Amino acid sequence: MSSSIDPIILMKQEVGKAAAARVLSGSVVGLGTGSTMAYAIQFIGDRLQNGDLKNIKGIPTSFQSRVLAKEYGIPLVTLDEVDRIHVAIDGADEVDPHLNLIKGGGAAHTQEKIIDALADRFIVVVDSTKLVTDLGSTFLLPVEVLPMAISPVTKAITNLGGRPQLRMGVKKAGPVVTDQGNLVLDVKFDRIDNPGELEKTLNNIPGVLENGLFVDVADLVLVGEVIDGQPVVREITR
Ligand code: A5P
Repeated sequence: MSSSIDPIILMKQEVGKAAAARVLSGSVVGLGTGSTMAYAIQFIGDRLQNGDLKNIKGIPTSFQSRVLAKEYGIPLVTLDEVDRIHVAIDGADEVDPHLNLIKGGGAAHTQEKIIDALADRFIVVVDSTKLVTDLGSTFLLPVEVLPMAISPVTKAITNLGGRPQLRMGVKKAGPVVTDQGNLVLDVKFDRIDNPGELEKTLNNIPGVLENGLFVDVADLVLVGEVIDGQPVVREITR
């Protein structure tokens, strides 16, 4: 039965379900963004509807996750209304062996980093194609930039050895505009030897709002895999 489904979708569903199963009643839950998170949000909603889970509050990380949470009946709050986020669940574009991440494929990494970093526990949900030896090897590094600073920031990143390209919209003329009204540069670095240092260096360029390097933030990575046609979820901890 399951073999007729695209294996990537199967992995995303399974890992989303596994993460949703870890949410506890009474908790405040950071709700990440992306196609894998869409399944996690759906399964959290299912647990609420069937009474398995009670009294949770979600904090969305994007317009997308807010819309999905409302669709699946998850009550939402803002950071102004809670003292604590018990757990955040979020996807990633790359995960290295130290559990450092590249995020921002959906241009939501600025709000995601705020919520994921604040959470007591940050659970990452990925399919096995996201595991890499070195960050930046399969995915460009997203950097959110204030529109009026796009030219100087592009030059500054080029001077650091990066090759930035402005992310363009799909079914929209012109660039992608983030939920905050900013632009995104996707940057190719030949090597990212020290992700923590690069994260700080990029964020120190005037006009940069946030970049997609998430260093020392993830506590647990749930990896969806398909083995012999069957989906399994593997845990990687720090
Ligand atoms: C959103 O900006 C991203 O950080 C996503 O969390 C990331 O791109 C993973 O998305 P998928 O689960 O759709 O691959």
